[in-house]
Amino acid sequence: MKSILIKNAKVITEDDVYRSDLLVEGEKIAGIKKNIGVKADRIIDAEGLYLIPGGIDAHTHMELPLGQICSSDSFVSGSRAALFGGTTTIIDFANQTRGETLASAIKLWEQKSAQIYADFRFHVSVVQADRQTLDEVSQLQKIKKINSFKTFLAYNNMRLNKDELLQVMKRVKEEDGIVLVHCENGDKINQLIHVAKIQKKISPLDHAQARPPEAEVEAVEEVIGLCQQTLCRTYIVHVSTHSALLRLKDAKNQGLPIFAETCPQYLLFDESVYHGEFDKAASFVMSPPIRTQEHVTGLWRELLAGAVDVVATDHCPFMLEQKRLGKSDFTLIPNGAAGVEHRLEILFSEGVIKRGLSLSAWVSLISSNPAKIFGLYPRKGTINVGADADLVLFDPQARHTITKNLHHMNCDRSIYEGIEVVGKCRTVFLRGQTVVDNERFMAEKPFGKWIGY
Ligand code: URP
Ligand code: ZN
Ligand code: ZN
Repeated sequence: MKSILIKNAKVITEDDVYRSDLLVEGEKIAGIKKNIGVKADRIIDAEGLYLIPGGIDAHTHMELPLGQICSSDSFVSGSRAALFGGTTTIIDFANQTRGETLASAIKLWEQKSAQIYADFRFHVSVVQADRQTLDEVSQLQKIKKINSFKTFLAYNNMRLNKDELLQVMKRVKEEDGIVLVHCENGDKINQLIHVAKIQKKISPLDHAQARPPEAEVEAVEEVIGLCQQTLCRTYIVHVSTHSALLRLKDAKNQGLPIFAETCPQYLLFDESVYHGEFDKAASFVMSPPIRTQEHVTGLWRELLAGAVDVVATDHCPFMLEQKRLGKSDFTLIPNGAAGVEHRLEILFSEGVIKRGLSLSAWVSLISSNPAKIFGLYPRKGTINVGADADLVLFDPQARHTITKNLHHMNCDRSIYEGIEVVGKCRTVFLRGQTVVDNERFMAEKPFGKWIGY
């Protein structure tokens, strides 16, 4: 069994910051205390570095099929990029196709992820609420295969109506799983897209205007009502508006089991990204869209006050050529952007350094909270004896500039192009193996593992 001794690190967990040595034996953390004196296969002096638990990205879309195309990262390339950015576990979405079973979606995603560098799990997207699908929702939880179910209130080929969502939530509540919801009012959006088309509005900016903040807020209000009714654990993905986040904060304060996720793109950019040339603006076409500066400021304020539970990426990369499919019709621009590699560093730089987010809150948002919410904790998401040795040695001083020319995601675009960040993942360990060391990828082959709950 290989051992690694990390000396003099500043250990950061969700509730503590302290100096210590840490011993890894095999795949696990074997000891945490000052001045560990044992011999080890590798000894690292971590003076000046932070030691944090590996990141958990609870929202990725590798190889997501969209009509004739697919998001451009495979599980291999996307998980490799994730490790470069300190994310050691991803939770991807196995999407049901209408008319097919959840089992067939899971099988397909298992095939896609047969080779993967990071540890992983799936949520399953439920796009119909017929009896067979609902029975599968129950069964998947009973056999402890999957307990997180994604639903959509927008996207015509995937969305559920209110009653269908209620049925899913009731089934999930029975087994104490969790429902994830893409909150946008699909009827409102369809109507606005219809009008835009009549008016020959075709640009990325028109995409954003057809998906206004109210569409998100109305959907969030509806889901809060269903959460109240069912008491089903509920997780709102990619919250993009200040107003929706305030509704969720109130709901949580009333004791509802509801969680809010946001993503770096909603914290960094405002709607001005949609002005200007198509190629650049199309990189930001995603749903929900990037919002005005008031929302950005409001999201930060609430995040700093603790209203956000998780920062995930919604990593869903498309190449420029794929984005250009919608050059003369925004509804044909594939939605999504690459981000899985940058989440830890961006939140550190923009949150901790620029806005005073505490180190423990940073770790909670990127690792401990998703681990707790999705049942990976305390195996993952913290630094404790017995936990998986998924660890990141993080240099809080290093500066670098994000560019598509240097990132590891399989995407010829970066919405973060030219952004300078403070802080860099220096060395990354997955279950005790060094997978990234000073910009070098060290894993000889993909050894990512399915992590049950
Ligand atoms: O635009 C986005 N977010 N694409 C990925 C699918 C989704 O809605 O999460
Ligand atoms: Zn979504
Ligand atoms: Zn998504």
